[in-house]
Amino acid sequence: MFKFTYNIPTKVYFGGDQLSNLGPELKKFGKRVLLCYGGGSIKKIGLYDKIVTEIKKAGLELFELSGIEPNPRVTSVNRGAQICKDENIDVLLAVGGGSVIDCTKFVGAGKYYDGDAWDLVTRKAPITNCLPIVTVLTLAATGSEMDCGGVITNLETNDKIGMGASIMRPRVSFLDPANTYTVSPYQTACGSADIFSHLVETYFNPTGSMFMLDTFMEGMMKTVVKYAPVAVAHPKNEEARANLMWTSSWAINDFVSACQRCTWSCHPMEHQLSAYYDITHGLGLAILTPRWMRYVLDETTAERFRNFAVSVFGVDPTLPNMEAAKAGIEAVEKFLFEDLKLTKTLTELGIDKTHFTEMADKACHAKGGRVLKGYKHLTPKDVEAIYEMCL
Ligand code: NZQ
Ligand code: ZN
Repeated sequence: MFKFTYNIPTKVYFGGDQLSNLGPELKKFGKRVLLCYGGGSIKKIGLYDKIVTEIKKAGLELFELSGIEPNPRVTSVNRGAQICKDENIDVLLAVGGGSVIDCTKFVGAGKYYDGDAWDLVTRKAPITNCLPIVTVLTLAATGSEMDCGGVITNLETNDKIGMGASIMRPRVSFLDPANTYTVSPYQTACGSADIFSHLVETYFNPTGSMFMLDTFMEGMMKTVVKYAPVAVAHPKNEEARANLMWTSSWAINDFVSACQRCTWSCHPMEHQLSAYYDITHGLGLAILTPRWMRYVLDETTAERFRNFAVSVFGVDPTLPNMEAAKAGIEAVEKFLFEDLKLTKTLTELGIDKTHFTEMADKACHAKGGRVLKGYKHLTPKDVEAIYEMCL
């Protein structure tokens, strides 16, 4: 059994009518608030006005960083860090999905660094401090509202890199499922595929787990499989949105990964797809995940896949391991490509093998090694083969 430390200090306000707590929570960290948001969806859904009202009501000073891109760019991080330095900001308020929250995390760290924030993402310089972060989540997917990581893109170098530090974990998050009612069916499907992938990446690890944590993960995967199609078909279904939102946070907030000691596999591969082709993170994961599953399925992994298939998709437990495992992977494909109607191949996205060799190389070097040390260790050749299965 592994040792671990449980420390998930994000305070969560879940459900509606809780924004009256926003001002008082921000005030605990100071007076000067930088509101960070994306391309304007928060204005369309009326959330921006509500937030500004609360900030004013609390007598706080408001500054803004807008236009944070999906797959957030380091240029936005640098822009925000500069505002923090110039305006002596006390606290950051991220309102949006994972891209906004991730960018905000590095803005907060960038405040304490004199050079290009890209150095913090690439580990060239250590993250030494971070402004306190409060979030209002508008899209259930990444779990950034309760984890300490962020993923930043540099278009100049075709790099998309994830990096984390406990100091970047949001102090307070407002999770109101109603704020996700306007998320499009496509983004809902992609976000759900992302949540599902976080659980898959954690569930399939060679370092062992606890029965209790396995059961939590299986329950959360079942939750996504049950409710994602409902939210896609009925965007204002509160039960579906609430289940997805709370699962997004718990899938990646370090709770289920307490026993796990290995690198994820599909995420480093997907980050290359987003870096080179700017595709939506969850879509890339949806395309990669079942191919990766087929690639790593063998006599040594069949039992774990069988357990997954039986527990999450109700596959017949009397089937031999390999048969049950394959039925489970087919069920994953049905969920992603039929129930959620996500695009099945890279070819349909106009992506061919042009960059596969360099992308595979980068995916394997993402953590500084030469192989992706995941559930099954993958060499660049293996990763390239998986990309080719996606065509
Ligand atoms: O730009 P705005 O106007 O905010 O619009 C966004 C964006 O166009 C829109 N949207 C968000 N909430 C909405 C809404 N539209 C209507 N109504 C709402 N309520 O949806 C689009 C996508 O938003 P984005 O934030 O990019 O999506 P997501 O939450 O999926 O975040 C994806 C990013 O997070 C990273 C991904 O790599 C990607 O860059 N990840 C972060 C992780 C983390 N911090 O731990 C882990 C993940 O594995 C992931 O890598
Ligand atoms: Zn993800």
